[in-house]
Amino acid sequence: MIKVLFVCLGNICRSPMAEAMFRDLIKKEGLEGRMVVDSAGTGDWHVGKPPHEGTREILEKYGIDGEGLKARQIAVSDFDEFDYIIGMDAANLEHLTKLVDGKSNIVINRLMDFVPTSMKKDVPDPYFTGDFEETYELVKAGCEALLQQIKAEHSLEG
Ligand code: 4NP
Repeated sequence: MIKVLFVCLGNICRSPMAEAMFRDLIKKEGLEGRMVVDSAGTGDWHVGKPPHEGTREILEKYGIDGEGLKARQIAVSDFDEFDYIIGMDAANLEHLTKLVDGKSNIVINRLMDFVPTSMKKDVPDPYFTGDFEETYELVKAGCEALLQQIKAEHSLEG
C-alpha cells in the first residue's frame, strides 16, 4: 500500500479537500486498492469536526464524495506510517519539519511544487480568503500532478 497524507493548518478546508479529490482521482484510475489517503492538521482547534461548509459545498459542486471526513491533528507516528506527506503551504512545511525533528527521513513536500508551471506555490487558505474555488483549482492541479509522480515512481497503471 502506498500511503499519502495531506496536511494543512486546521484540517477543515484545504487538506480534507485534497484527501477527497485525490481519493476520487485514484478511484477513476482504478488504483483504489493500491493506496491509502488521509489528511491531518498541524493545529488541534477543529479535531473531530467535519470539513468547513465551503469545502463541503465545493466537493458537492464537483461531484466528489466528501462523506466521513473528520479533522484530526498530525501525530509523530504519521511520519513512520505514511510514504508521502504533502503540505499545502510553506508554513505547513515549517511546522512539519519542526515536528519530525530528524526522527524520520521522510521527505515532506508542498503540493504545488508538483506543478512547476504554477504561479502559486502555496495553496491560499480559504478559511481566510473565502475563495474555495481558487483552492479547488490549485488542489486539483496539484493532486493530478502528484498522482502522475507517484504512478511513475511505483510503475503503477490502473
Ligand atoms: P485549513 O484552514 O488549514 O485549510 O483547514 C484553516 C482552518 C481553520 C483555521 C485556520 C486555517 N483556524 O485558525 O481555526
